[in-house]
Amino acid sequence: MAHIQFQGVQRVFEQNGQRFVALQDIDLVVQDREFVAIVGPSGCGKTTCMRMAAGLEHPTGGQVRVGSEIVTRPGPDRAVVFQQFALFPWKTVWDNIDFGLKSLDVDAAERRRRIEQYIALMGLNGYEHAFPHQLSGGMQQRVAIARAYVLDPQVLLMDEPFGALDAQTRVVMQEELVRLARKNPRTVLFITHAVEEAVYLADRIVVMSRRPGTVREIIDVKTVREADDWDSHTRIEDVMDLPSFIHLRTHVWKLLRDQQGGDAH
Ligand SMILES: Nc1ncnc2c1ncn2[C@@H]1O[C@H](COP(=O)(O)OP(=O)(O)OP(=O)(O)O)[C@@H](O)[C@H]1O
Ligand SMILES: [Mg+2]
Repeated sequence: MAHIQFQGVQRVFEQNGQRFVALQDIDLVVQDREFVAIVGPSGCGKTTCMRMAAGLEHPTGGQVRVGSEIVTRPGPDRAVVFQQFALFPWKTVWDNIDFGLKSLDVDAAERRRRIEQYIALMGLNGYEHAFPHQLSGGMQQRVAIARAYVLDPQVLLMDEPFGALDAQTRVVMQEELVRLARKNPRTVLFITHAVEEAVYLADRIVVMSRRPGTVREIIDVKTVREADDWDSHTRIEDVMDLPSFIHLRTHVWKLLRDQQGGDAH
């Protein structure tokens, strides 16, 4: 069981000698093999939540658990795709993707097979020996995504992973992610600014409020998706045209707009 659990999580930061509460009373369970998207205004603490699940940041109150363990540090059960793609600049595309695999108990032939599979999937053929500085931003992000997926981890933590991609690649990646999520479900925490992306990908959407960040509302998408059989459509644009999709999208938009309004007053 690889569920993620935030229990009464609080995070206080210090800025210019002043303490401020970035996150308050975060209670959230991402069930085993559930895909949860987080949306919320910039600065509400989405990345901080993800870094705590990754073990890169620690709560000042409450607990974050993955499975039965309290998270204290990063582990091979959790793969992370960062908002700013964190590739090793001195390693080639191939070696970047291979990096995490090396520490797992995977034999050389299997490692090679998996790396080739993701290089092809991400459209990186021919760039195996290129270094990150020789790639565009979107290509670097595709390497970062490949590096996470190739590990086939229990838990995927993704912070705006498609933000730097061009529109066409983004759609391909979203459709691919849905295909993977249905075929081989993983526990996923996925942060995005794109409301449509959240509705298309997620089982549930967590809408966060502005500072101090807290859970404003949790929206069940899966029940609607299954009732209306979204998965019978393979193309994202066909799903986005469905009235049930539009209804959910509008609902999330309204919640987010309320957050913006709260900031102005
Ligand atoms: N290490 C840190 N030290 C001090 N303040 C921090 C630190 N990390 C984050 N913060 C602050 O905490 C708040 C939440 O930041 P976070 O990066 O989690 O927001 P976010 O929701 O991911 O925003 P965005 O949508 O812009 O990526 C911000 O006000 C940020 O300035
Ligand atoms: Mg962020």
